[in-house]
Amino acid sequence: MNRPKVVVCNTASLDGRLTLAPDVLLLWGDERWPGGTESSAAFEWLQFAHQPQATLEGSGSFVLDGNDPTPLPPFEDEFERETLYTDFLPPAVVERPAHQGWFTVVDGRGRGRQWIKDGGAFGEAWQGWRLLVFVARQTPPAYLAYLRREDIPYLVAGDERVDLSAALEKLREKLDITTVLSTAGGRLNGALLRASLVDEVNVELLPAVIGGFDTPSLFDSPALAPGEEPTRLALISVQVGNEGRVWLRYRVVSEEAR
Ligand SMILES: NC(=O)c1ccc[n+]([C@@H]2O[C@H](COP(=O)([O-])OP(=O)(O)OC[C@H]3O[C@@H](n4cnc5c(N)ncnc54)[C@H](OP(=O)(O)O)[C@@H]3O)[C@@H](O)[C@H]2O)c1
Repeated sequence: MNRPKVVVCNTASLDGRLTLAPDVLLLWGDERWPGGTESSAAFEWLQFAHQPQATLEGSGSFVLDGNDPTPLPPFEDEFERETLYTDFLPPAVVERPAHQGWFTVVDGRGRGRQWIKDGGAFGEAWQGWRLLVFVARQTPPAYLAYLRREDIPYLVAGDERVDLSAALEKLREKLDITTVLSTAGGRLNGALLRASLVDEVNVELLPAVIGGFDTPSLFDSPALAPGEEPTRLALISVQVGNEGRVWLRYRVVSEEAR
């Protein structure tokens, strides 16, 4: 496998909802969320067990659809256009001695702003972690110029949107990442699933039902095509946690193994 192993970890209501409603981001918490503000036991254990060198999120965890991001200064001649569309891995960031890991974010449309670059802002456990963004050849040049000015590393993969398989291969090839822990929302995890890029699925079920027709859920992806098979899973473990939480851990059964 020339890509990192991808382990998905989400906290969901019993009906698989990842948030309360389509217009609610949980990034900074919401008192109605049944998971409260305490971090997921599954996430902490997986971090310890898998020692991922990167986490993965999508832009949907940071910006609501329909919210126009603040306009960026227009792209000027400060960088060659062609240079902008090449990977940006500044040695001062990539080779810094205290490096521990990467927070990676898929942001093909260039919607993120005011990124927190340094994991230290999230507490001691994240010291040495840095932000890295995946972009595509259709990502606006003004956004790429903004990332360069801010010294935020990025990898270019895909044309109209980020090619997730190529992006993961670059992580392996350029940064020697062998395991990624994805805590993305439903659409990014759904896209990873449809591209056969998920190796392990962890869901920490919360004792609540949320409902909703459009509320992000575990794997939001195009419907199965006629003849297309569901992704088969093999149970690794079930663990009952505090306050009615149940952590389900599955390995994805590869097509060849069926
Ligand atoms: N409970 C939990 O564990 C948990 C975890 C994470 C998030 N959440 C919640 O879930 C919600 C966000 O979920 P979401 O589904 O809206 O956002 P999301 O999972 O971040 O999905 C959107 C991102 O996926 C990318 N994407 C989607 N399909 C793709 C494809 N085929 N190829 C390449 N890239 C693709 C999009 O690309 P573009 O950049 O091109 O748009 C965008 O960056 C928020 O409310 C958040 O708070 C909950």
